[in-house]
Amino acid sequence: MAYTSLLFDLADGIATITINRPDKLNALNAAVIAELDAAAERATREPEIRAVLLTGAGTKAFVAGADIGEIGGQGATAGRERALAGQRMMRRFERCGKPVLAAVNGFALGGGCELAMACHLRIASESARFGQPEVKLGIGPGYGGTVRLPRLVGRGRALELLLTGAMIDAQEAWRIGLVNRVVPADRLIAESTAMLRTILENGPLAVRACLELVDNGLDLGLEQALGLEAAWFGLLSETADMREGTRAFLEKRKPEFTGA
Ligand code: COA
Repeated sequence: MAYTSLLFDLADGIATITINRPDKLNALNAAVIAELDAAAERATREPEIRAVLLTGAGTKAFVAGADIGEIGGQGATAGRERALAGQRMMRRFERCGKPVLAAVNGFALGGGCELAMACHLRIASESARFGQPEVKLGIGPGYGGTVRLPRLVGRGRALELLLTGAMIDAQEAWRIGLVNRVVPADRLIAESTAMLRTILENGPLAVRACLELVDNGLDLGLEQALGLEAAWFGLLSETADMREGTRAFLEKRKPEFTGA
């Protein structure tokens, strides 16, 4: 697929996907959602893609939300379909089986905050701003804001952000656990890439297991979640990578994982 609103670059196993509508602060219109969906599907399918870095073009915004021009005139059915299309795309990234990191380079509002939250990791530049301002427009979040925000920062803090629509800066986002790290703007891509490279040095099946276990486990009861973890522990015990990883430790050398 040729993209019109995204830049897609694959280097050393890391697919960098840049939402490229800087004149509209990278707002998510239907075309961007469809292209992101295709990119997420590609990330899931292609073995050469081992990790994904999502960011926004320009210096001002990661994503300033759903395209307000598009949603203004929609009715109930179109609204629901729009929400479902965005949710599907974000869920595809969340379930792609490879680490997905949002490098938040500016405003991450509404759908932008929701997209960042659907990523497994978030690194923010010092200039990033976060918020769920939908209520100011008389509409609520549609891409998982009421679902993922309380899971990330707790019910009370999530409700404060959702009900006031207020924006918070990167330091506050870090303080409440909404982002993993805050870095100077000129270090954002380097630090994000470095974190993904660190992950890519680890056993790929083990990394995949962690992604799947946390995603599934959060919605299970304690006993079931622990049972699932034990089952994966058993499965990973059969892998060549597990033999290699433990042997390399004992031999005081770097492991060479093959993903088998
Ligand atoms: N949808 C559509 N267009 C958007 C947009 C959005 N979510 N956010 C910004 N834009 C457009 C603006 O309309 C403007 O376009 P124009 O130059 O053709 O007039 C351009 O992007 C630049 O935005 P502008 O508002 O002029 O920048 P600013 O620095 O004054 O303010 C924000 C930046 C992020 C505070 C402001 O754009 C904003 O509040 N955006 C909407 C955020 C929001 O409510 N998101 C949730 C949507 S459900």
